[in-house]
Amino acid sequence: MLKGLRIVHFCVTSLGCNKKIQKVIKKICCIGAGYVGGPTMAIIAQKCPEIEITVVDLNQKRIDQWNDTDVSNIPIYEPGLSDVVAEARGRNLFFDTDIDKAIDESDMIFISVNTPTKTYGKGKGMAADLKYIELCARQIARVAKSDKIVVEKSTLPVRTAQALKNILDHTGNDVNFEILSNPEFLAEGTAVSDLTNPDRVLIGGQQETEKGKQAVEALVSIYANWVPKDKILTTNLWSSELSKLTANAFLAQRVSSINAMSELCEITGANVDEVAKAIGMDSRIGPKFLKSSVGFGGSCFQKDILNLVYIAKSYGLNEVADYWEQVILMNDHQKRRFAHNIVKTLYNTVSDKKIAFLGWAFKKDTNDTRESPAIYVAEELLLEQAKISVWDPKVKDAQVYTDINTLGSIEADEVDNKLQVAKDPYEACKNSHAIAVLTEWEEFNTYDWQRIYDNMHKPAFVFDGRGVLDKNKLQEIGFVYYRIGEGGV
Ligand code: UDX
Ligand code: ADP
Repeated sequence: MLKGLRIVHFCVTSLGCNKKIQKVIKKICCIGAGYVGGPTMAIIAQKCPEIEITVVDLNQKRIDQWNDTDVSNIPIYEPGLSDVVAEARGRNLFFDTDIDKAIDESDMIFISVNTPTKTYGKGKGMAADLKYIELCARQIARVAKSDKIVVEKSTLPVRTAQALKNILDHTGNDVNFEILSNPEFLAEGTAVSDLTNPDRVLIGGQQETEKGKQAVEALVSIYANWVPKDKILTTNLWSSELSKLTANAFLAQRVSSINAMSELCEITGANVDEVAKAIGMDSRIGPKFLKSSVGFGGSCFQKDILNLVYIAKSYGLNEVADYWEQVILMNDHQKRRFAHNIVKTLYNTVSDKKIAFLGWAFKKDTNDTRESPAIYVAEELLLEQAKISVWDPKVKDAQVYTDINTLGSIEADEVDNKLQVAKDPYEACKNSHAIAVLTEWEEFNTYDWQRIYDNMHKPAFVFDGRGVLDKNKLQEIGFVYYRIGEGGV
């Protein structure tokens, strides 16, 4: 077990001295206390108790939540995360808003700020907005008085490292910055196990220089505290940056591919889960990421593919761009199709009909709602004047309203009138005409479905956008059950 992080400096004098000077890196700063920075630093702190880690953020409220004495109030819901935070917080894991101090004292700085899709100007709706990254770079350059290793954790367009280096080298205090790319592959809802037992850790760096090589080694040594060496992959910077976009594009492509088949299954009478099982047993295809759904959401898939499309277009690679854009178009179609099917089935009108939403998060076991398909299905139905009542076990009421209001397509008054967040699933479903399942929370199968049925308008419809409910049981009770990828209601 390594005690702390050691960087090996090779001293090569005129006499050819090859003495190794070891510098122990003791402090890490992570800028950004979000879904990536928080869990990642918590695990590094747990696995490397000798390293002091300070996670900083501009958002005082978020930092206060991370510091809440009741550890169940940390701002991110992830199974197992609060235990890890409870173990390390106050020992070698700290959350703070004093960004300058944390930068100044650290040897290694992770940048884990958000890189949303641009909402203005050139590349609007496609390119990644790098303003938060640039602000970080300028702050690091201004504050740093000693050499730093700067690690890109956020997903970034290819060659962002070069832009970072330019800013750091031209505005800094004449100290040396080594830039590494270390993309995060954790999936929300399984962050703790993904970080504890990753398929691989990817580290990109400029290994052609001695300092670059040392920086890569330094980061390798941190992960080597718990990740087997053969799973720690080192590449050049650009391969690492592009690999992250590629991984997300391939994963999203599988979901869009099976979702495309779900529509065909519904018309032909095939069953998409059976098709997925049959193809997934082919070892060349494999069984994962073949669950047909109402569409993929989350902060990464759409953003990263749009980014990839934008990059391809900017190099004039129009066929490459069109190919990947189709993954997004298919996903948009799947969400709309689900909403339209509800309208069509409810006799072509949902005006003033109550529709219960089970689930609002973009997947189970997270409170994150970014790009959740629920938001877009709700938008379509609200535009058809439906009333929507939402129940999600982890999403806060205010988040639901923010998600819809941010779209800007529905008047605020109309949102207040038509959208309600229920205090439990029974309240959400009471007096509804239909139930739509938007997230695959496991607790949905434990509900008293007879009670739900008794309190609904008849016929009582269920539209299972995740294919998770017990179809036979629901049909026996009397529900009219529709499942994505299965023929006819
Ligand atoms: C993803 C990548 O998996 C992760 O490696 C990367 O670091 C960030 O982006 P995440 O968005 O957290 O992670 O969740 P993921 O499990 O990939 O699911 C993304 C979306 O696809 C969810 O909405 C999920 O419900 C949907 N999905 C996933 C399906 O609809 N079907 C599937 O078979 C798998
Ligand atoms: P991710 O899923 O990539 O972690 P989040 O939005 O959950 O994204 O977290 C990013 C965090 O980065 C936010 O809490 C935001 O306040 C923080 N942040 C953005 N820019 C800066 C900055 N310049 N300095 C410090 N924190 C920042």
